[in-house]
Amino acid sequence: MEHITLNNGVTMPALGYGVFQTPPDETATVVTEALRVGYRHIDTAAAYFNEAGVGAAIAASDIPRDDLFIETKVWVSDYGHDQTLHAFEKATAKLGVEHLDLLILHQPAPTRWDSTVAAYRALEELHADGKVRAIGVSNFMPHHLERLLETADVIPAVNQIEVHPYFQQKDLLAANAEHGIVSQAWSPIGGITFYPGWGDGKRSTLEDPTIAAIAAAHRKTPAQVMLRWHVQEGRHVIPKSVTPSRIADNFDIFDFALTGEQLAAIDALDTGVRGGPDPDTPRDAFFALAIPEA
Ligand SMILES: NC(=O)c1ccc[n+]([C@@H]2O[C@H](COP(=O)([O-])OP(=O)(O)OC[C@H]3O[C@@H](n4cnc5c(N)ncnc54)[C@H](OP(=O)(O)O)[C@@H]3O)[C@@H](O)[C@H]2O)c1
Repeated sequence: MEHITLNNGVTMPALGYGVFQTPPDETATVVTEALRVGYRHIDTAAAYFNEAGVGAAIAASDIPRDDLFIETKVWVSDYGHDQTLHAFEKATAKLGVEHLDLLILHQPAPTRWDSTVAAYRALEELHADGKVRAIGVSNFMPHHLERLLETADVIPAVNQIEVHPYFQQKDLLAANAEHGIVSQAWSPIGGITFYPGWGDGKRSTLEDPTIAAIAAAHRKTPAQVMLRWHVQEGRHVIPKSVTPSRIADNFDIFDFALTGEQLAAIDALDTGVRGGPDPDTPRDAFFALAIPEA
């Protein structure tokens, strides 16, 4: 397993395992399978309501805690200084861990910016206290980063954002790089273009002919080619699957390399069309979603 070094010196496995939309009652089983295959980095979130399932898999595993990299996210309804400190307590209790490796803000809250700043200040305190090894953000666009950096003492280590061949956010990747922030790709194989019941009418990255041709040339799958594309371009990836054969396939990307021409061919597939919600659109429903106690 290759590693990425964050801007505070902490190292993170180059590939993690995501659990968005993984049903809570299946989470322990699939995370156990991912750990068996070799994943050591798990990406969950308070708002996925499956942190306890991740915790059950950690508890059942004999892998030393220091060999695991556990990442979770604070949901917007828990923003604010004291609320975010309490969100850390809720998350660690559900996960059954004393400390987190990476804790990030799930979204900017542009219409409640003061609470976003206060939440980030709480992350900085958790980091200073050694309760969180690294802190970061998610779905921040360049102007959100600039605004945050006006008040932040700690530059985020990671910005977790939508990146796949059909939506590449090159300006945002450049802004992250300029600040030494690792770009962590969500929907790295384009899940948001084909989620069951979601992608109807959209083009699926899994069926893209350019990616299929590159995959055939390497005797790899389209998913493996997309993951390899991210890793070779310096992005972190957190593919999700509840299917054992895919969990294994998505991990098996370190024995081949794409050529410069193949990387460029995938770069050229960008449509500029976002699959997920626009981080600047106020969504009151997001704030109504309450995160339960452990
Ligand atoms: N910060 C955010 O706002 C945000 C938003 C979205 C996601 N995320 C994070 O990013 C992670 C990954 O993103 P994602 O779940 O949206 O999308 P993804 O990992 O790009 O794709 C997941 C989808 O692809 C299928 N799949 C997985 N491996 C496959 C393979 N080898 N071949 C064919 N199909 C495959 C999965 O199906 P099965 O599970 O049925 O196998 C699932 O439907 C999430 O789990 C979460 O941790 C964060």
